[in-house]
Amino acid sequence: MKVTVVGAGAVGASCAEYIAIKNFASEVVLVDIKEGFAEGKAMDLMQTASLNGFDTRIVGSTNDYSKTADSDICVITSGVPRKPGMTREELIGTNAGIVKSVSSSLLEHSPNTIIIVVSNPMDTMTYLVHKTTDLPKNRIIGMGGALDSARFKYRLAEALGAPISDVDGMVIGGHSDTGMVPLTRLATRNSVPVTEFISEDRLDQVKEDTKVGGATLTKLLGTSAWYAPGAAVSGLVQAIACDQKKIFPCSTLLEGEYGLNDLCIGVPVVLGRNGIEKIVDIELNDAERDHLKKSAEGVSKTNGLLEL
Ligand code: 2OP
Repeated sequence: MKVTVVGAGAVGASCAEYIAIKNFASEVVLVDIKEGFAEGKAMDLMQTASLNGFDTRIVGSTNDYSKTADSDICVITSGVPRKPGMTREELIGTNAGIVKSVSSSLLEHSPNTIIIVVSNPMDTMTYLVHKTTDLPKNRIIGMGGALDSARFKYRLAEALGAPISDVDGMVIGGHSDTGMVPLTRLATRNSVPVTEFISEDRLDQVKEDTKVGGATLTKLLGTSAWYAPGAAVSGLVQAIACDQKKIFPCSTLLEGEYGLNDLCIGVPVVLGRNGIEKIVDIELNDAERDHLKKSAEGVSKTNGLLEL
């Protein structure tokens, strides 16, 4: 199993590290445009192999995509991260050109790969890959919901005073500060609905804290987060590589599902060796469906800024 990660910055390097530590891939190729940067990160990571107990080979490449040839999965993290006070959507001018160029270079050497898009604004960048490549829709995946759901579970566990391992929950919708739809109605603490433990007001606070989870960290860190984004995308890579048939909320092209068309947005999907094996059409109540529709309107508006 060969995985390429484009962008050796904090998110890409964290993703490569988590993939290596999980030890399911034979090779991870880390690519960056900055001379020597990917090679340095790869070498530093390889020097943890005996300490962290993995056999995965991590190699670096400065903008030479020949080393990525025949990658089963390619993760695109390249582009500029947001600064405090910025929205993800403000990155479109810079990141659209990068994502378009990177996906073309990847497909030149790995025409049958599965592309996972992390670069922001992620839903629109995922849509851009659909519009600028011939890759089938099941092989183009946007990572946002897995990260947002991890933040949702963190906030739920905090509110419950419970261990994270007891908590489950999912965030669908756009990966944006206003467009996320945390499904509090379906969240559970060891199979018991969290609404049995937490008041509506406290759950509303959990929802709001989840929506601004990225912005909260950007304000604290001065740049976008990287540990949780890297870990979230490594989970998607593992589900595909190991054909796990796990359900994740991922940004995927909708063609009528959830009453939505011609956009990529976070909905539950089954991930396996073929990428998106199935879009799971769960029953939403009116309020959830309305939130998802409004979120889709926001994503479509950002898509309209693309020069296709
Ligand atoms: C985040 O929410 C970078 O969009 C990513 O942290």
